[in-house]
Amino acid sequence: MIKKGIILSGGLGTRMSPLTKAVNKQLLPIYDKPLIFYPLSVLMLSKIKNILIVVNKGQLHQYKKLLPNGKNLGINISYIEQSKPRGLPDAFILGEKFIGKDNVALILGDNFFYGQNLTSKLLKCVKLKKGAKVLLHKVNDPDKYGVAKIKRNKIIKIVEKPKKFISDYAITGLYFFDNKVINFSKKLRPSRRGEIEITDLLNHYKKNNNLYADFIGRGGAWLDTGSIEDFYKTSSFVSAIENRQGFKIACLEEISLMNQWIGKKEIQNSIKFYGKCEYSNYLKKLIKNFKKKK
Ligand code: G1P
Repeated sequence: MIKKGIILSGGLGTRMSPLTKAVNKQLLPIYDKPLIFYPLSVLMLSKIKNILIVVNKGQLHQYKKLLPNGKNLGINISYIEQSKPRGLPDAFILGEKFIGKDNVALILGDNFFYGQNLTSKLLKCVKLKKGAKVLLHKVNDPDKYGVAKIKRNKIIKIVEKPKKFISDYAITGLYFFDNKVINFSKKLRPSRRGEIEITDLLNHYKKNNNLYADFIGRGGAWLDTGSIEDFYKTSSFVSAIENRQGFKIACLEEISLMNQWIGKKEIQNSIKFYGKCEYSNYLKKLIKNFKKKK
């Protein structure tokens, strides 16, 4: 079982400047919550309790105000600062001590996942013992992503942002790796854009016949938060679902409660922490229903 996860939450967010000049992109809102809540919720739905968040140097205090240590959520959150973005696999080099001898999941801080069978898929992925596993999703604009060519459900080719069409299966920003990922990452050489690339890392696993894929089908959503326009579209998606159902997407306390990691007391602490707001009202309702069940 994979019990550790890293959220890569650095990056300069230059495409969204001036919004990102003073505040990290992952702290900006997707509808009613900061963006970081969504990838964090994905790790928590995967039953991962030990979480390392990689943040930009100088922005740690922003994160600690929002997610101090995970105690109220029944999880462990630790942080590491990155002096400059060196590519996604840098997360495994920076996180070497955190990972130790274990396998690990990585999620990009700006990735949004939603879907009915998402949790069961995640729970299968964390069973990975050896190799690497990625989740693929069909998109209309594959040239913006790492892309995988598939034959009989197996990955036969991977290209980062292909200029020529090879497939419309994008590699989403959620990855599961065995412990070898640390050493493999250390051996990577920077690409032409000066960064070490996740696709090179995945190709390494592919060469060793150790790369596995699963699919997020059309009933699931993997949405973008790369540009301001994407932020609005993803916010509208969350707003449409939440206001229709009355359930929140990525309510961290609700996931913890369902996982039986916390009880009423911790939720009350969270309500105090967030203060009088709509999110706290939702938490109050959770406690009420929790009482009813008991
Ligand atoms: C990164 C990866 C790419 C992946 C994408 C998912 O791209 O390099 O392979 O498909 O994340 O969000 P970036 O967002 O850094 O351009």
